Amino acid sequence: MSCGARPVLVLLAAVLLFQTTTALVIRADPDPARFVDPFIGTSNGGHVFPGSTLPYAAVKAVADCASGEDQGGFVSDGTPIRGISPLHDDGTGGGASMGQFKVMPVVCSGDLTTCVTNEPARVVPRVEGSATGSPGYFSIGLENGYTAEVTTTNHAAIHRITVNASIEQPVLLFDLSNDLGHSFQGNGNLDIVTLTSEQQGQKITRLTGGGEWIPSFGIGTYSVYFCLDVPNVHDFAVYEDGTINVGATSLTSGGYANDQLGALLQMTNGTSSFVARIGISWMSTGKACAYAESEIPSITSAGFDTTKTNARATWNDLLTSVEVDSTGVSSDFQTLFWSSLYRSFISPMNLTGDNPLWPESTEPYYDSYYCIWDSFRVVHPLWTIVQPQAQAEVVRAVIDVYRNTGWLPDCRMSTDMGFTQGGSNADNLLSDSYSKGITDGINWQDGYAAVLKDATVESTLWGVQGRGGILSRATLGYIPIADSTDPMSTGSTVGSYRSASRLLEYAYNDFGIALIAQGLGDSDSYHSYINKSMDALNIWNPATESDGFFGFIQPRFHNGSFKNVDPRFCSPVLGHTSCYLNPTGGEFYEASSWQYSFYFPHNMQFIIDSYMGGVATFLDRLDTLFENGYSDIGDEPGFLPTFLYNYGGRPDKTVDRVLTTLYSNFNTNTSGLPGNDDSGAMGSYVVWASLGLFPVAGQNTYLLSTPLFPSITFNNPVTGTKASIIAQNWDGATTNKYVQSAKLNGQPYTKNWINHDIFSKGGVLELTLGSTPSSWGTQPRDLPPSIVTGGF
Ligand SMILES: *[C@@H]1O[C@H](CO)[C@@H](O)[C@H](O)[C@H]1NC(C)=O
Ligand SMILES: *[C@@H]1O[C@H](CO)[C@@H](O)[C@H](O)[C@H]1NC(C)=O
Ligand SMILES: *[C@@H]1O[C@H](CO)[C@@H](O)[C@H](O)[C@H]1NC(C)=O
Ligand SMILES: *[C@@H]1O[C@H](CO)[C@@H](O)[C@H](O)[C@H]1NC(C)=O
Ligand SMILES: *[C@@H]1O[C@H](CO)[C@@H](O)[C@H](O)[C@H]1NC(C)=O
Ligand SMILES: *[C@@H]1O[C@H](CO)[C@@H](O)[C@H](O)[C@H]1NC(C)=O
Repeated sequence: MSCGARPVLVLLAAVLLFQTTTALVIRADPDPARFVDPFIGTSNGGHVFPGSTLPYAAVKAVADCASGEDQGGFVSDGTPIRGISPLHDDGTGGGASMGQFKVMPVVCSGDLTTCVTNEPARVVPRVEGSATGSPGYFSIGLENGYTAEVTTTNHAAIHRITVNASIEQPVLLFDLSNDLGHSFQGNGNLDIVTLTSEQQGQKITRLTGGGEWIPSFGIGTYSVYFCLDVPNVHDFAVYEDGTINVGATSLTSGGYANDQLGALLQMTNGTSSFVARIGISWMSTGKACAYAESEIPSITSAGFDTTKTNARATWNDLLTSVEVDSTGVSSDFQTLFWSSLYRSFISPMNLTGDNPLWPESTEPYYDSYYCIWDSFRVVHPLWTIVQPQAQAEVVRAVIDVYRNTGWLPDCRMSTDMGFTQGGSNADNLLSDSYSKGITDGINWQDGYAAVLKDATVESTLWGVQGRGGILSRATLGYIPIADSTDPMSTGSTVGSYRSASRLLEYAYNDFGIALIAQGLGDSDSYHSYINKSMDALNIWNPATESDGFFGFIQPRFHNGSFKNVDPRFCSPVLGHTSCYLNPTGGEFYEASSWQYSFYFPHNMQFIIDSYMGGVATFLDRLDTLFENGYSDIGDEPGFLPTFLYNYGGRPDKTVDRVLTTLYSNFNTNTSGLPGNDDSGAMGSYVVWASLGLFPVAGQNTYLLSTPLFPSITFNNPVTGTKASIIAQNWDGATTNKYVQSAKLNGQPYTKNWINHDIFSKGGVLELTLGSTPSSWGTQPRDLPPSIVTGGF
């Protein structure tokens, strides 16, 4: 379960091996979890889940608020508490996911028939400022006189409720039906039995059951099951819509959506504290009980403490695979860094062995890709470095989604399909891992077949899987506005067509396919997908002007004419909240043409030279993007542009842009995120910016900026190798922030990018910093790869 003690002093053997002059000793922090503040991003739209969970665990437990922005369950906004529930997503937009199976300690005026059971009447104010948490632990005070704590394992949670001495008859309410989004479908049941636990000979009251709800950003319905064990129950009741039946042992909903169903458990008089354990399964109540029994054997206060200790150790085991020298780094920045790293490993959730959809498969199953549009850019590339074994499982799981549904997933939550935002970005999730040599157990032939399906078979349901407009793209070379060949264009559930931004993403998806084709030796396909990867230029309108710059991506009609869309539209300065999946959302999704027109990560050099008017104009354009407020770091397409100066031979300008962006948009406040965390995407951006490198997701390229620690080491848990980034003359990236020279494994290195070899094979990147921009990384041979210059 947990890790052993890590050596406190870790000598960088590799440094000595390459005989640098540094005598570097990192004092590895054995408990980086102490720097994690789970409440960062729990107000102001961050939607961060701040409760107890383990890395990629199914169970994520936290107190749910009666708040308008409850996507992460708990919000730092003073709203009252609805209960503490075991299932959540993290940082999402869309509606709020799950949140069913709440427990809530309540005070009733007399016997159980006097309890208030229905929402919203039964919600209880929080004790303001009482919420605390750390990896694997959450606690909150309630104004009705209880303090509620929770800690978790992969599939179970244990609650400890402390009772104010003035409450003689404590009662625990269990809410079966009310999820966060009030989506209960009326198919629920609950049974109560009394049993004697094998482990302790304890008398336990066991509640089991399940229900049906709808996903927060997708289609269909889902079912999930629980098993709640509570010792020391004196009396119990079930309730339905306010009718309380004392002593009844079962409840079956009458099929009414939004029915309020649950149970009341009266604890022994005078109890000062009590515990309750809940197991969750996506397959059955039997499995939910088995998970709870095996993962939390002791339903006692001591069992709570053991679970809490183990949870923190599990997190430290993951976090210590990244070691930083924090000499000269403020405690506040360390909090920002470790909290961001922590949030990068909360989603998706590992449901291997508990997959209700194709239970016979022996492949891993992960759920809550919310959405791959967000996570392929920064979250999963971070997994390839920090947790490559988990990334290999995700790759196997998405390929298995293809095997079993016919399509790679795009967005998924609570075992249902979610809405597609842009391209078929699982293609780049796969090409990223493929090009970095992630192989562990992965059937890449099937992976290749899966991405080819995306590219070649028109999906009748591209709003949830595959691509739309394949036929038009093949005949016109682009996807027209209101595509008449699109099966979804005549009244779909997901509205607008996003023809311009989808084409850009499909083109880059095709580049990812080309990389896989190349590696598998399919050279015909390689050439044809490389060719297709540039057809988004067919919607480049050289005549479109904005701020004196000419040439922007513009949507195009079937007859070939461009539609003029202000290149600033969808940016923070114009129509910022107009460009979602709404029917009138237009032809760009969540970012402007100003920003999307830079989205050719596979052929930047070609765009710079042949479309943007050369390097100087390109650099001016990038400056204008940021200085005129057209970029949006609060949304994932905004991440990569901050590093793009490297393609113009100006890594120094990347350094300045990234530092400004980081410091002015991210901090350790509850309001410290510029947008939805989106399953840890904002957190991952902070991590990359702090490491001084950034993945060009989908390919084997990392752009270099400047590190925010004097040294950083990654311990690869698969190969056992170490990768170190060491900064000479480091002064906190205040004055000495520009790279003057570099050495990779002891050899002079002038490129302003690196590939994945250092992480898979081990190595040392040594950067010598100085106070002024230098000639390092500025020459044509130093630039990141582009199709036109070779290098892939
Ligand atoms: C306990 O309950 C009493 C009466 O409601 C209240 O005055 C007191 O503040 C409570 N104490 C705690 C620790 O919650
Ligand atoms: C529990 O306390 C209540 C309220 O004081 C009292 O009415 C009841 O008889 C007590 N029950 C037991 C079993 O002591
Ligand atoms: C995912 O869950 C399975 C089943 O519990 C487990 O064997 C596997 O190690 C987990 N993966 C990771 C990366 O922890
Ligand atoms: C792709 O192939 C087509 C047809 O052969 C050709 O007209 C076009 O110029 C090619 N595009 C690129 C970017 O090579
Ligand atoms: C092309 O179609 C659009 C939309 O119907 C129309 O506004 C435009 O005038 C057409 N252009 C030409 C050249 O016919
Ligand atoms: C955090 O929020 C507080 C209160 O709103 C504010 O005073 C403080 O300046 C914020 N800190 C940062 C770093 O933004």
